[in-house]
Amino acid sequence: MSAASASSLLILQPGLKLNHFLKPLLVSLSQPSSSSSLLVNPARRFFVTKPPLLPAISRKHSSIVSAQSPSDNDRGSGGRSGALAPPPLVEDLQKIDVNPPKGTRDFPPEEMRLRNWLFHNFREVSRLFGFEEVDFPVLESEALFVRKAGEEIRDQLYCFEDRGNRRVALRPELTPSLARLVIQKGKSLSLPLKWFAVGQCWRYERMTRGRRREHYQWNMDIIGVPEVTAEAELISSIITFFKRIGITASDVGFKVSSRKVLQEVLMRYSVPEELFGKVCIIIDKIEKIPVDDIKKELKSAGVSAEAIEQLMQVLSIKSLTELEEILGGTGNAVADLKQLFSLADKFGYSEWIQFDASIVRGLAYYTGIVFEGFDREGKLRAICGGGRYDRLLSTFGGDDIPACGFGFGDAVIVELLKEKGLLPELSLQVENIVCALDPDLQGAAATVATILRGKGQSVDLVLENKPLKWVFKRAARINANRLILVGISEWQKGMVGVKILSSGEQHEIKLEQL
Ligand code: HAM
Repeated sequence: MSAASASSLLILQPGLKLNHFLKPLLVSLSQPSSSSSLLVNPARRFFVTKPPLLPAISRKHSSIVSAQSPSDNDRGSGGRSGALAPPPLVEDLQKIDVNPPKGTRDFPPEEMRLRNWLFHNFREVSRLFGFEEVDFPVLESEALFVRKAGEEIRDQLYCFEDRGNRRVALRPELTPSLARLVIQKGKSLSLPLKWFAVGQCWRYERMTRGRRREHYQWNMDIIGVPEVTAEAELISSIITFFKRIGITASDVGFKVSSRKVLQEVLMRYSVPEELFGKVCIIIDKIEKIPVDDIKKELKSAGVSAEAIEQLMQVLSIKSLTELEEILGGTGNAVADLKQLFSLADKFGYSEWIQFDASIVRGLAYYTGIVFEGFDREGKLRAICGGGRYDRLLSTFGGDDIPACGFGFGDAVIVELLKEKGLLPELSLQVENIVCALDPDLQGAAATVATILRGKGQSVDLVLENKPLKWVFKRAARINANRLILVGISEWQKGMVGVKILSSGEQHEIKLEQL
C-alpha cells in the first residue's frame, strides 16, 4: 500500500496534524510483520494506533465536539486496545491496607445515616424550590475540565487515559457536565431549567479541615434566566437549607460581589477581554499569597500598573455606596448588586448577606454575581459557593444561555454542625424484631416477617436460634418498637406474642391484626 492510499484511509480528527499520524503509520506499513502497533478496523476503514502516539493526539482536543468525534468513539469499539497493562497479578497472599485511599472515605452505617440525612435535606429544599434532579457520569472527558485560565482545579484533576486511549477525568465539579448536557439536549429543553444534583466530585487537594480528595456536592442551577432574581432565589434556597438543619444567621453569612466590578475596572484600563478569566483567577488567590506576588502575576499577565492599583483599591471595598462612588453609575455591577440586596430584603434574608468586593471565586467561568457562604467564627473553609456563568456554554461550542448556580459540599457543613453541637442523633430504627422461639418455627417467623413487610413495616428477622437475652439486646441496639415472638402454642392458635419494648406491655394477637 502506498503512503498516498494509506493516508486516504485516515479519518483525521479536528486539530490533528497529518504528520503525527503518517510517520508511525509508514513505519508500521513498511514492516507488516511487526504490525502489532497498528490495528485496522476494516468495517470502519479506520486505523487504530497504540500509544505513545495517541495520548499526544487526544490532548489536542480543544472542545467537547472534537473529544466526542465519531472517530474517537470508534477507537474504543474494538474493546480493549491493550494500551495499558492490566494490574499485575498478586500470586502470594498479601496483607492489604484496610484504610481507604488517602483523602477518601468509607461510609459505615452511622456515617451513611448522616450522609443520607444531609442529602435528604438537600433534596427536600430543592423540591421546595421546584427543582428537578439530574445526574451525570463521574467519569467525563478530560477536555470538559481543562480551561486555560490557570485554575487550581485543573492541577487537582484526577485524569488518565482509558483503555480506549481516551483522556478522561473524574469530575472535580458538576457544572461542566451540566453545561454539556444542556448543549446536548439543545432546543428540546424548555427554559428556564431549574436543575439540582447531588454527586461525588474528585480533586487532588491538599487535605485540610473540610477539604478532601473526594466530596459530595449539592448543586442547584438555573439556566435561562438573565435577571438577578435567579441568584436571589438560589441564595434563598441555601438559607432555607441552613434553617432546616438549625444553622442561623449568627453562625453563617454570605459574602457577595460581582465579577462585573472587576470587568468595569479592566475595561476602564483597556485590558483585553480574553484576560478577564485569568485576572479573576489571580485575584482569587489574594488571601493565600502575598499581595506583591499577586501584583507581579497580574503584571506578567499583561495588566498595566495603573489598572493593578485600581483593582487593589476596589477589592478592599466593603460597602456598595463606596463602590458606586468609585465605579460611577455607568456599568451594571452596582445595579445588579443593589437589586440583589433589595430582593434579599423581600425574601427576608438581609441579615445573612453582605457585600465584599474581595469575593471573586476560583473558577474561570463566572461572569456576574458571585457568592460564598462562610462561618462567622472564621474557623472553616468556604461552606458553599456559586455565581453566574453566562458564557460557559460557548466555551464548549454551544450557544450561550444565561445561567447561575451554586455548589455546596458535604464536608465543611458537617464540621460546622459538629462545632455548633448540631449534629443530629441518627440511630438505626427498625420497627419490629421477629424471633422464632423454636428452630422448627423459623418458617413461621418468616411468614410473620413477610406479613409485616407487606404492610410497609420494617422487620429485623432473627435468622439463627438465639437465646432471648441476645434477642432483647439486639432489639435495644436497633431501637425496635415491638418484639414479636413466634411460639408453638400461640402459632397453633394463629397468634403471636407481641411485646411493646418502650412500655414492656405484652399480649397475644392474631396474625391478621399484626
Ligand atoms: P467550588 O467553590 O469549587 O464551586 O465548590 C463548591 C463547594 O464544594 C465548596 O464551597 C465546598 O463546599 C465544596 N468543595 C469543593 N472542593 C472540596 C473538597 N476538596 N473537599 C470538600 N468539599 C469541597 C464549584 O464547584 C462550582 N461548580 C459550583 C457551581 C455550581 N457554580 C455554579 N453552579
